[in-house]
This record gives sequence, C-alpha cells and structure tokens, in this order.
Amino acid sequence: MAVVEPLVASHYSSEGLQDRILAALAATGVDLAALRAEDLEPVDEFHVGGAVATAALLERFELFPGEELLDIGSGIGGPARFVASRAGVSVTGLDLTPSFVAIATSLSQMTGLADRTRFVAGSALAMPFEDSSFDAAMILHVGMNIPDKPQLMAEVARVLRPGGSFAVYDVMRLSEGPLSFPVPWATSAETSFVETPDAYRAAAIAAGFSVEDERARGAFAVEFFASMRARMAAAQTEGKAPPIGPGFVMGPDAPVKIANLVAAFEGGVLAPVEMILRLA
Ligand SMILES: C[S@@+](CC[C@H](N)C(=O)[O-])C[C@H]1O[C@@H](n2cnc3c(N)ncnc32)[C@H](O)[C@@H]1O
Repeated sequence: MAVVEPLVASHYSSEGLQDRILAALAATGVDLAALRAEDLEPVDEFHVGGAVATAALLERFELFPGEELLDIGSGIGGPARFVASRAGVSVTGLDLTPSFVAIATSLSQMTGLADRTRFVAGSALAMPFEDSSFDAAMILHVGMNIPDKPQLMAEVARVLRPGGSFAVYDVMRLSEGPLSFPVPWATSAETSFVETPDAYRAAAIAAGFSVEDERARGAFAVEFFASMRARMAAAQTEGKAPPIGPGFVMGPDAPVKIANLVAAFEGGVLAPVEMILRLA
C-alpha cells in the first residue's frame, strides 16, 4: 500500500478546489453566507447517483439517532453531512487525501454541521481508531482504490462494535471485458482495483460479516448519466452555464472519465453495487 496510497491521494488532490466550488455555487445564486448542506449536494456527493444514491443506501441501512457512524473514504464530506442530518447520527469521516479532509471540515463548518461530522486523515487499511469504536460504517465508491479487500473488511470489523452494520456502495466488476482509463477513481490501471461482488462477499464473510442485502445498480447508473447529459444539452440549447455536477470534482478530464465509466456500465462490465453487511 506504501506505493499505491500516495498515488491515489495525488489523483484526487486539486489545488483551490473549495474556492472553485464556492464560486460556482455563488454563480448559480446560492447565498454563501447562509450555506446549507443541500446547496452542496450537486458537487459534494462524489459517486454515481449523488445524493439520490446516498438516500437509497440509507433506506436499506439501519441507523438510530445518536449512533456513531464511520464513513470510510469520506471525500469532501457530502455523504457524511447527508446522513448526519437525515439520520441524526454522529459521523466520523476518514480519508486518504489531506486536502479533501480539510475541505470536508470547512464545508461542515460553513453549513452548521461541525458538531455532527468530523473528518480525519488516514488509510482505510490501517485506521487510526480503537477497536469497537463505531456502531455502523459506510463506504461509497472507495473500494476501487483499495487493492486488499480482505484487509479492508478486517479493519472495518475491528473498529465496529459487535452487531454493527456496514453499508457498501462501490463500483464492482460484473463481467470480463475491457476497461478504458482514465475513470473517475484512477488515471491508469496502477491505482484501480475493481473487484467482483463475489470477492467483496468472500472478504466480508472471512472478516466475520454476514451479507444481509445486495443489489446491483447498473440500470440506475446508466439512467443517472443519461439524465445528466440531457440537462447539459438543455442548458447549452438555452445558452446557460452547464449545471454543476459530480464532474466538477474530477477536474478538466471529467468528460473522458465519465465517458469511459458509462461505456463500462452500458456494456455490463461494471456496475455500482450496494451490499449491507452485519458483523456477528
Ligand atoms: C470517489 S471518492 C468518494 C468520496 C465519498 N465517499 C463520496 O461518495 O462522496 C473516493 C475517495 O476515497 C478516498 N480513498 C481512496 N483510497 C482510500 C484509502 N485506502 N483509505 C482512505 N480513503 C481512501 C479518496 O481519497 C477519495 O476521497
């Protein structure tokens, strides 16, 4: 991991990202002095389906107000803020990319959620937390950067309390077939470790989890990107600025990253998959 993790962090790091996000939101009429977590949703939910996908995952995931939730690979904090405000839980986000941790912290302060979300820099494969620290955990579109799924599952099992649940929403491989780079999580195959649902399940079971629920979200993913394209085309026809979307965080090569991902979804090679796991 010593080689992979710095490459992953540098893939995601982007100088001045927070200022660009805030400027783009202000240009659409958002009042930055009264910024709400909802205002950030078009840009801070860095996974297929954005806040709609986070809401769908949350519906299948048992959380109780006051619980401690760990968000592994928390990015700039959108899913953590979404779940903290909807489910009344306290969320700790862990992320490898220091600038994302700083932005997540700052956006939570700006949206009044600093008391319910905190963000820590570190690796999912060696988490800086005591054993049995959390009631539940989630991971959204992070496992594709993690080569060692058994170690990931073992670490999550270590930091969860007995009976704790773990919601996974990662892009997984559903069939053999070519994958073109770049994709949103990797510039090249060097930092891409997409695995099959079978591999996730086997790693989870070996770490002491049972699989309570699972569904592939390929059709949802294809529809999500089709509707994004339609909104972009409509804005262009009307001479308006393109709507802010998940591509914003991906940088200037976002269109090619998204096109490669959509081709893999349409070809049935990849799909986002939800899994709800429970620790014995
Ligand atoms: C595609 S983004 C998803 C961010 C967030 N989960 C979301 O859905 O908005 C992937 C994130 O995983 C983080 N990441 C990748 N590998 C990691 C690891 N080994 N440990 C912790 N975070 C990691 C990256 O820094 C990045 O912020």
